[in-house]
Amino acid sequence: MPERQTAIHLHYAEAGHGLPVVLVHGFPFDHTIWDAQMIALGGSFRMIAPDLRGFGESAAPEDGYTMEHFAADIVTLLDRLGIDRAVWVGHSMGGYITMAALRRWPQRVRAVAFVATHARPDTPEKKLQRETSADNVTRSGVSDIAFTMMSTIFAPAVDRQGPLAQRIYDIMIQASPAGVAGALRGMAARPDSRETLRGLKIPALVISGAEDELIGAELADELAGLIPGARHVVIPGAGHMPMVEQPDATTDALREFLESL
Ligand code: MLT
Repeated sequence: MPERQTAIHLHYAEAGHGLPVVLVHGFPFDHTIWDAQMIALGGSFRMIAPDLRGFGESAAPEDGYTMEHFAADIVTLLDRLGIDRAVWVGHSMGGYITMAALRRWPQRVRAVAFVATHARPDTPEKKLQRETSADNVTRSGVSDIAFTMMSTIFAPAVDRQGPLAQRIYDIMIQASPAGVAGALRGMAARPDSRETLRGLKIPALVISGAEDELIGAELADELAGLIPGARHVVIPGAGHMPMVEQPDATTDALREFLESL
């Protein structure tokens, strides 16, 4: 598998012992979006939160940003840590990456939790929009896309000038242009995951924000409906970032799921 040959060593945070759980952040964030869950769940489980290639403190190669490349880096990290199977928790693009792992390395996935994500591929319009944004990032850096995302990722009640919004904005503007442009093109190239999920035979949880403008209730409901036996928890007062907007409710949903395994 070519992606395994070009996998890189990811920077990651780790807390606790027990059932391994890998928290996969979305686009264009880093592992610190999971800080509240790392602290709250690290007492009961072995929590691992990597920075994906191109983000946070991980290296940013010039290319290799398909969902399979991201997943291969995580499988390589699990190898380094001596972990055979982990629960994969994927936020948004992290969900697309988890779906790629289910196709390519299903034996490394003990169970899945999908947070604010969905199973469909990009529409032709969305692919074009991603290509334009990727060109713009390569030319002018990541600040435009970070600024635009600030208006869509939070529930309306979140103060756009407050400390939470500032913290997330700071993460986004620190992402590398190679990583942001690469991930945009990688997301545009991802396949339809609906068939993958229809055939899933492992435990699954879907968490969605009741006020997520980017994903929307229809896509979240569709995702939960595709997976045999999946539980769906809708978090009130959360947009696209339930783990930081409503950290306790997100942690509770994850804890109940992890304890059931
Ligand atoms: C994410 O949060 O990972 C992205 O918004 C996902 C996407 O653009 O499809």
